[in-house]
Amino acid sequence: MILLDGKVTAASIREELRGEILAFQLRAGRAPGLAVILVGEDSASHVYVRSKVRACEQTGVLSFVYRLPAGIPQQELLTLIGKLNKRLDVDGILLQLPLPKGIDSQICLAAIDPRKDVDGFHPENMGRLALGLPGFVPCTPAGILELLRRYELSPSGKEAVVIGRSNIVGKPLSLLLARQAPYANATVTVCHSCTRDLAGHCRRADFLFLAMGRPRCITGDMVREGAVVIDVGIHRTEDGLCGDVDFSQVSAKAKAITPVPGGVGPMTIAMLLKNTVQAWKAVEMERMR
Ligand code: GUN
Repeated sequence: MILLDGKVTAASIREELRGEILAFQLRAGRAPGLAVILVGEDSASHVYVRSKVRACEQTGVLSFVYRLPAGIPQQELLTLIGKLNKRLDVDGILLQLPLPKGIDSQICLAAIDPRKDVDGFHPENMGRLALGLPGFVPCTPAGILELLRRYELSPSGKEAVVIGRSNIVGKPLSLLLARQAPYANATVTVCHSCTRDLAGHCRRADFLFLAMGRPRCITGDMVREGAVVIDVGIHRTEDGLCGDVDFSQVSAKAKAITPVPGGVGPMTIAMLLKNTVQAWKAVEMERMR
């Protein structure tokens, strides 16, 4: 059984990006910058934002964090996004989700300049992904594909089953897997809360992607012998963090599996940095032309 180590893989990606930043910074005359907006008191979001800021520091990306109260009027948030869109030292803008009640996340995400949309959640970048055009790809799906690439596990021609249809993970991941591209070309099935016979679909999967958000609900009997299992879930339980997968049961049958923590999570953050560097380079190359 291969343990797909996102922690080690993400660290080597950060090291590669650090080299890329050092080299390009000499020509650009400035470091890349990421603005992170966090609204309200969601405790998981605060943890994620701290991890993102730490990863920026380790890589040589400047970070600007805006912690705003839950009761902030939507208009004030839109004004901040408008200012960040104009700032020359900000290459990427990340609006941490979920947003508090009363704020329309789709309106706020659509206000971000698509060239600074390092999360890939703007309708333009989502549309580009659906059309197979270049653009920013959401970080969790991008991180999953990067992990498969680095372990040389190609889903091409295989049965890929994605459990979950969220805009952040399931939907973009299913689009990426079905693309005509290396480490894609899969036959993709998307399952969700209305799926009949979830276990039957899971058992057919050569590549199984879990993003349903329910702790340890995928058991050993639901997984095909030799499957590649990617667990996107992360849940705080009485006995520590766990994923959507019952790890001890499923790891006994899988060919390869991601641990929780230390699997997909660190890859998500590495892709955020990668997208920020991509945004920075695009702006600076345009300026140098
Ligand atoms: N909330 C959970 N995952 C993500 C993510 O990848 N980006 C943002 N902005 N918010 C999230």
